[in-house]
Amino acid sequence: MIVLGIESSCDDTSAAVLENGSIILANVISDQNATHSKYGGVVPELAGRCHIKSIDWVIKKALAQSKINLKQVDLIAVTIGPGLVSSLLVGLNTAKAIAYALHKPLIGVNHLEGHLLAIFLQEQVVFPYIALTVSGGHTDLYRVDGFGDYKILGRTRDDAAGESFDKVSKMLNLGYPGGPFIEEKAKLGNSLAHRFPRALLDKDSLDFSFSGLKTSVRNIIAKREAGKIAFMSDSDIAAGFQDAVIDILTAKVLLACKKEKINRIVVTGGVAANSALRKRVSLVSDTHGLQCFFPKPKLCTDNAAMIACAGYYKNIKKSMSRNEILNLDASASLNL
Ligand code: KG4
Ligand code: ZN
Repeated sequence: MIVLGIESSCDDTSAAVLENGSIILANVISDQNATHSKYGGVVPELAGRCHIKSIDWVIKKALAQSKINLKQVDLIAVTIGPGLVSSLLVGLNTAKAIAYALHKPLIGVNHLEGHLLAIFLQEQVVFPYIALTVSGGHTDLYRVDGFGDYKILGRTRDDAAGESFDKVSKMLNLGYPGGPFIEEKAKLGNSLAHRFPRALLDKDSLDFSFSGLKTSVRNIIAKREAGKIAFMSDSDIAAGFQDAVIDILTAKVLLACKKEKINRIVVTGGVAANSALRKRVSLVSDTHGLQCFFPKPKLCTDNAAMIACAGYYKNIKKSMSRNEILNLDASASLNL
């Protein structure tokens, strides 16, 4: 079965061709970093315009790379939320037009389900598992009992982990998206130069909070500029901040495993591309006799292969009426 996946929920335009749920024939991603970097974050109006410019060639390139033509596609899977509506609509309307013109089945996919199932592009993980989804928009813990069987265990009460990487990077004038810049800087720094706060909330809570950490970084930078503390380099701040995020994520994922009595962890979403986080979760998993899995970095950040994969595992309706196709809608705050 050939699935054409289309993703445009935020600032990456992506199209993928997937065979039988796991063989990636193409996974083309066009980012908009050059457009948004001068603002230090995604500007929704600009993101929508960039998607319009890219969507056509991204799909054509994915088809050309995979040597598949549209007539050979069995199913189109497209992200319908959550995300920026002006971005989502570009992918959705393109997918609708193809499905309508070629009488292809179309399925709407929740972006978070794409992240949760991205690991199946690499290996068949046994259910149940605890999924830590850490991205620019979300920091969630799920219990995953099967395809389509997800229970939310905890989520961030304020900023997402990725958002805090982006904001700290902006404070240090490092660049956008912040995660990879902070990761590089942190390699040169001393994480013990300053101990940033770890908000673990109530003892039993599986929720997260990163806004206090972000404020604490801002305060340290201000104190440094005012000469009120001993000198601390940008690298030390990046290392201290990253260490605090990793401590929080690791503590919560371990607590989730303990509470749910599950010994498998999948870490996914853009922040899961962070090599220090991968190393720490692997180490802690070994210590506690847990198995942990990470999609490859390219499959952690936004991509259409994970959307095609989630579409493949959803209940596939072979034929959709033209009205059903036209009625499929996008939602900025779609729940899983
Ligand atoms: O999953 P994703 O591509 O898009 C959303 O669904 O949000 O995640 C993007 C987020 C950004 O906040 C980015 O800074 C972060 O993932 N990120 C990283 C790394 N690579 C991307 N954070 C930490 N370390 C990284 N290496
Ligand atoms: Zn994402």
